[in-house]
Amino acid sequence: MTVHLVGAGPGDPELLTVKAVRLLEQADVVVYDRLVDPRILELAAPWAEMVDVGKRPGAPSDAQARINEILVDRGRRFDCVVRLKGGDPFVFGRGGEEALELRAAGIEVAEVPGITSAIAAPAAAGIPVTMRGISSGFTVVTAHQDPHADRRLDWDALAQSGTTLVILMGASRTAMISDRLIQGGLEPTTPVAVVHAATTTTQDVQRTTLAGLPELTVVNPSTLVVGAVAAQSVLDLPAISRLTTDFTQEGTNR
Ligand SMILES: C[S@@+](CC[C@H](N)C(=O)[O-])C[C@H]1O[C@@H](n2cnc3c(N)ncnc32)[C@H](O)[C@@H]1O
Repeated sequence: MTVHLVGAGPGDPELLTVKAVRLLEQADVVVYDRLVDPRILELAAPWAEMVDVGKRPGAPSDAQARINEILVDRGRRFDCVVRLKGGDPFVFGRGGEEALELRAAGIEVAEVPGITSAIAAPAAAGIPVTMRGISSGFTVVTAHQDPHADRRLDWDALAQSGTTLVILMGASRTAMISDRLIQGGLEPTTPVAVVHAATTTTQDVQRTTLAGLPELTVVNPSTLVVGAVAAQSVLDLPAISRLTTDFTQEGTNR
């Protein structure tokens, strides 16, 4: 009687963990989200009940309450329930809320991490989120913050952080992101990469600058990467030599 909160990764089924595959093959019930690739759902046993709880844009606000009810109901009735979520369940996946609901109902919960799009999308575009001499860290934020959150995101602080910024749920907020980060002190020429549908057959990468970002058409699901590393792909040889040169000129190549 356990509900496993399982990360499905960014899309490519080969990026599932071994544990995720095993649980999918064993599950009595699979409760899944809109962003989970159909090829991953095909790994479930033929007898498993498949429950689509994908929230669509404009869906009623009680959607999460309904999902919680389904999870508690199936968790009480079946031995092995998989709650499958895109990326990692605990990265903007509401996995924390679902775990608390299930525990309050007396149901066992286990978490199986997945590869988050915050890492996989930059990687798929050949962008290392950290790189010695260029970026000493990365910060992951949502552009779609809960209006009732206790603390508002401080975009000035993000602009001043000196880290690569990885922004999820930013497709409809590109003008706000550009404005806030430039007002916060980032150069309008700061490189930006927009990675759409990373690791899937429809993956697409657009490169621009902070000033140019509002001009792009950005489609869901997309991850934005802001910072020097976003200018290049280290999967291209010319880019490697350019990055290595910059790196050496900064005198930190030790
Ligand atoms: C509700 S959040 C869920 C994040 C997920 N839990 C994770 O760890 O990747 C949805 C956002 O994740 C990002 N995303 C998810 N899948 C993606 C993909 N394949 N390529 C690019 N971005 C993706 C987009 O920013 C999208 O708006």
